[in-house]
Amino acid sequence: MDDFFAWLEDGPFADAIRGTAYLYPMLESIHIIGIALLVGPAMAFDLRLLGLGRQKLRVTAAANYLLPMSRLGFIVAVVTGVVMFVPGASLIADRGSAPWKLGLLLIAGLNILIFHRGTYRSVADWALDRATPMPARLAAAVSLASWSGITVAGRFLAYT
Ligand code: HEM
Repeated sequence: MDDFFAWLEDGPFADAIRGTAYLYPMLESIHIIGIALLVGPAMAFDLRLLGLGRQKLRVTAAANYLLPMSRLGFIVAVVTGVVMFVPGASLIADRGSAPWKLGLLLIAGLNILIFHRGTYRSVADWALDRATPMPARLAAAVSLASWSGITVAGRFLAYT
């Protein structure tokens, strides 16, 4: 793996990123905009699953409105994240926060998969003014915790 990271950061793509004035801070800014688009709507959906606005807003309407935004934000965060990773691959991969960020990303992804393949299939029964089933509440809690953790680990990535 170390060889691969060294190959990445010594390559022409890494050179181009390092050699372009203001590119890195622009990537960081777009990364944050992606995070806002990803984490904001995801958390709003999680709060709906936990019961907020349950008399007014169908879970399905919340999902249809919020989750595509979240997916777009995820793509923006991943693309900018990978581009920022390349020029400092060895250093960044070596940081203590890196496995946390990656591990929590995997947990968040697995949680989404389990939720959509499981409880969400019966959403018609609890979409409006009904108590959300316990597995869906659990999925919301895991989601809130993992996206928060990824954000903290991401911030730590610049330091340690
Ligand atoms: C595969 C996906 C991702 C990769 C490869 C990635 C990688 C990176 C890299 C290389 C940095 C810059 C660290 C530095 O300045 O030295 C960073 C910053 C950051 N990342 Fe990510 N990231 C990804 C996804 C995410 C996601 C999904 C979130 C949040 C939910 C996130 C949150 C953050 C935060 C908060 C920062 C600090 C930004 C700043 O203060 O400038 N990242 N990320």
